[in-house]
Amino acid sequence: MDSIINLVRPNLRELKTYVSARSLNKKGSVYLDANELPWDSLGGKYNRYPSPQPKKVTQQLASFYKVDESQLSLLRGSDEAIDNLIRTFCEPGRGGILTCPPTYGMYDISAKVQGVVNIEVPLVTKNNQHFQLDMDGIINNLSSKEGEQVHLVFLCSPNNPTGNLLNKNDILQLCEQLYGKALVVVDEAYVEFSSDASLTSYIETSSNLVVLRTLSKAHGLAGVRAGVAIAQKNIISCLDKVRAPYPIAQPVINVLTDYFAGGGFKKLSQNIENLISEKERVSISLSKMSIVRKVFASDANYLLVEFLDSHSIIKSLESQGIIIRDRSSMYNLENCIRISIGTEEENNLLLKALED
Ligand SMILES: Cc1ncc(COP(=O)(O)O)c(C=O)c1O
Repeated sequence: MDSIINLVRPNLRELKTYVSARSLNKKGSVYLDANELPWDSLGGKYNRYPSPQPKKVTQQLASFYKVDESQLSLLRGSDEAIDNLIRTFCEPGRGGILTCPPTYGMYDISAKVQGVVNIEVPLVTKNNQHFQLDMDGIINNLSSKEGEQVHLVFLCSPNNPTGNLLNKNDILQLCEQLYGKALVVVDEAYVEFSSDASLTSYIETSSNLVVLRTLSKAHGLAGVRAGVAIAQKNIISCLDKVRAPYPIAQPVINVLTDYFAGGGFKKLSQNIENLISEKERVSISLSKMSIVRKVFASDANYLLVEFLDSHSIIKSLESQGIIIRDRSSMYNLENCIRISIGTEEENNLLLKALED
């Protein structure tokens, strides 16, 4: 327990978590406790504050992720989880995070917004595997020259934008080596598309592991804004201190309840299967093109592609209304573009435009 509390920002350690009217979960017939308007103008009970952590949804998520409900914090996407983690565990001016570029950009932005340094230890090629963790580099860079201490190591697996999984044994070894020093946050936004199992099964045994999961990718609910931080209960309790009192809006709770109760959730595996087969088809077609230097192997729903000249490709595709993501300015990714896999029809339009 101390190994976690010692990592929390000092001003939060003694702070009592805010108790909102609805978090008390009192059951009554007349609710005069939250300064709400008593009339329901839209007919959706929108005059009432929502549940801070809606049970029907958190139960479904806990069962899907195979963890206990007390081990998750439901938030407005994993972006909010990243921000809350930094606000809980990194002290402005003194704290740090560690990231491994090229990777998802929000770890860096959220750290800088909080006045927290981001120590970068680039991904390396190991045993012929691209974009893997530099273990010694991470262990040897847990503080900056100015003395800022890293309390959060952000790892992204499958990594955005490179698409590969990080070696699971490396991640688990890092959890062990960083015990008492830092939390290891594994962002698994794309894990449903991958060949590897999630690390949520290690939450019980790794007390400094945090796993981020989202409904934005494989579940197809990016517009709903919902994602979770999963960790042992004491970490979730620390995160509760900085969580907004009512992060999930009632219309969002309704959509999520319908998704799990209705047909949406049933389509998950079919959608994943279709996407993976489209990805393989697009990857093979791209590999045969003379304008393409390399298509990186991907465990996600996108492909990182190195072109001979990425700038002219982007210009030409955009002029035809096809928007892809230029990643060529990222560390080690010269001439690289990230291409999300679309529908069969969309992918055909992309391939045709590139062939032309
Ligand atoms: C690796 C990674 N993490 C987190 C996010 C943000 O996810 P969410 O929509 O759950 O905030 C993204 C979005 O692209 C992402 O690529």
